[in-house]
Amino acid sequence: MTVRKLFLLPGDGIGPEAMNEVRKIISYMNSALSAGFETDEGLVGGCAYDAHGAAISEADMGKAMAADAVLFGAVGGPKWDGVDYDVRPEAGLLRLRKDLELFANLRPAICYPALAASSSLKPELVEGLDILIIRELTGGVYFGEPKTITDLGNGQKRAIDTQVYDTYEIERISAVAFELARTRRNAVCSMEKRNVMKSGVLWNQVVTALHKEKFSDVKLEHMLADAGGMQLVRAPKQFDVIVTDNLFGDMLSDVAAMLTGSLGMLPSASLGAPDGKTGKRKALYEPVHGSAPDIAGKGIANPIAMIASFAMCLRYSFAMVAEAEALEKAIANVLDKGIRTGDIMSEGCSQVGTVEMGDAILSEFQSLMG
Ligand code: NAD
Ligand code: IPM
Ligand code: MN
Repeated sequence: MTVRKLFLLPGDGIGPEAMNEVRKIISYMNSALSAGFETDEGLVGGCAYDAHGAAISEADMGKAMAADAVLFGAVGGPKWDGVDYDVRPEAGLLRLRKDLELFANLRPAICYPALAASSSLKPELVEGLDILIIRELTGGVYFGEPKTITDLGNGQKRAIDTQVYDTYEIERISAVAFELARTRRNAVCSMEKRNVMKSGVLWNQVVTALHKEKFSDVKLEHMLADAGGMQLVRAPKQFDVIVTDNLFGDMLSDVAAMLTGSLGMLPSASLGAPDGKTGKRKALYEPVHGSAPDIAGKGIANPIAMIASFAMCLRYSFAMVAEAEALEKAIANVLDKGIRTGDIMSEGCSQVGTVEMGDAILSEFQSLMG
């Protein structure tokens, strides 16, 4: 039987609550579908800092490196607001992304039909929405050097973050965008700020050249990232695939999340390059939302983003496409039945907690898998 190694990093806040609902699906798939998932678990974020004084231990980094896929919950919270910058909870996530070279972050924003009324936009603007934001994840201002705060000695300090992009980084992320667009509606919109930033000028040039050379069958459009944000809330259905840098992608994907009804709905996949010999790629799957300290421990968090992230894991790491589709269908069916967590609650629906939502999705998944 194929062994599929999963490394679970539930993290802080609602991370562990959401991860528990995925664990149930993994157990079911192992016992009823002989899926062969072998799971191990580690600490990341504030809980890792409390245990070892670092946002992730070397031992857990090693396990993440060796796994077929990492499932990540969420990190952070007010408890760790005062800790040193280098060991803050978020540093654990950034290190995983950087050391595993997970340069391609796929953030789909799909508006399930039953949730069109939960969006902050008019239902007709989001009904049927299906966009894919491809965020560059290992470069840009998140990692560029220098990154410092210096005392200028005159009562002033200077903070520097550096936006850096090399040609190869822009090429590989745009190739992912063009390739995925070909499997969808064949259109890519590249967003940068070439009117202010040199990195935007290069980004635009590299995307344009790669398009001409290898992907001229795909429709390509360029948009300044601020205008792109505006278009996302004005007429989001005009987009198919959006490709953008690390920081713009962070912001635009939170905007896109709200179009779908709640941050609690948005999954993501972070992928590395395929290995030259085995074709396998390193991968981490996580919800777009954070640790939601305001609702942590109350059993009310929406586990759908985490469960949908596991569906992406089935698709991208294990080519279990039928299972991924069934799990996504199970989510849609549960929503169609009017079962809702508080964040997506609307009139006439029944409100449930995290565990009940997980149970409802699992039971729907079980009937779909027969
Ligand atoms: P957040 O995503 O944690 O929460 C924003 C709002 O959305 C909150 O009101 C929260 O209750 C709600 N929300 C988020 N997920 C939800 C869910 N599954 N179900 C229901 N409601 C949900 O963002 P924040 O408050 O800006 O950040 C809190 C902490 O999380 C910070 O420390 C931040 O750095 C961290 N963070 C971590 C990640 C990650 O681990 N990937 C992502 C974003 C933020
Ligand atoms: C995200 C988060 C992270 C980011 C933080 C927690 C480091 O906001 O995954 O969107 O900024 O990338
Ligand atoms: Mn973010």
